[in-house]
Amino acid sequence: MASAKITVLVSGSGTNLQRLMDVFSQGIIPNAEINLVVADRPCLGLERAKKAGIPTVMLTRGESLSRQLLEVVPQETSLIVLAGFLSILSEEFISRFENKIINIHPSLLPKYGGKGMWGIKVHEAVIENKEKYTGASVHYVTEGIDTGEVIVQKSLKIMPGESAEQLAKRVLELEYELLPEAVAKVLNSMC
Ligand code: GRF
Repeated sequence: MASAKITVLVSGSGTNLQRLMDVFSQGIIPNAEINLVVADRPCLGLERAKKAGIPTVMLTRGESLSRQLLEVVPQETSLIVLAGFLSILSEEFISRFENKIINIHPSLLPKYGGKGMWGIKVHEAVIENKEKYTGASVHYVTEGIDTGEVIVQKSLKIMPGESAEQLAKRVLELEYELLPEAVAKVLNSMC
């Protein structure tokens, strides 16, 4: 069976991308490969892809970003994964790849999602609100921000007195389990 081609979008350190590269190369998720990594700025995620010999493209941020993306995403791509991608995609792009774009978010959506809720801000808000649990979610990307149907979630208990930085680290560990699970689940649902 031909392997599923996955295009990954990044803006940051790319540790979630690295996790996907590892699970594909180790065959933990068979018949899947990353055909392109796209970034909206210079970032470590791009360097990781280059080191692994995966084609990369860096776009320029701004309102033409989604149009640039339409140009570079290969025709064969069956799934687009946003792994710490910070630009907002246009409705045109999202409808072109309907139900083929997923995003990982460091909270138990629908809580702590939406505009401005990314990175450490999510964990600061969770602690600020004295939540008992937090976690990570992978969801389909729709027009809203972090509003698409949730595919998988994993939660963890917040420790008393835990800092936002400590919590962010533990949630990231959860993401490394969650994203490959979500990708496998979506790929299975496609065949
Ligand atoms: C992760 O916390 C993810 O939840 C969020 O952005 C971060 C990506 O980190 N979407 P990395 O670039 O994969 O290291």
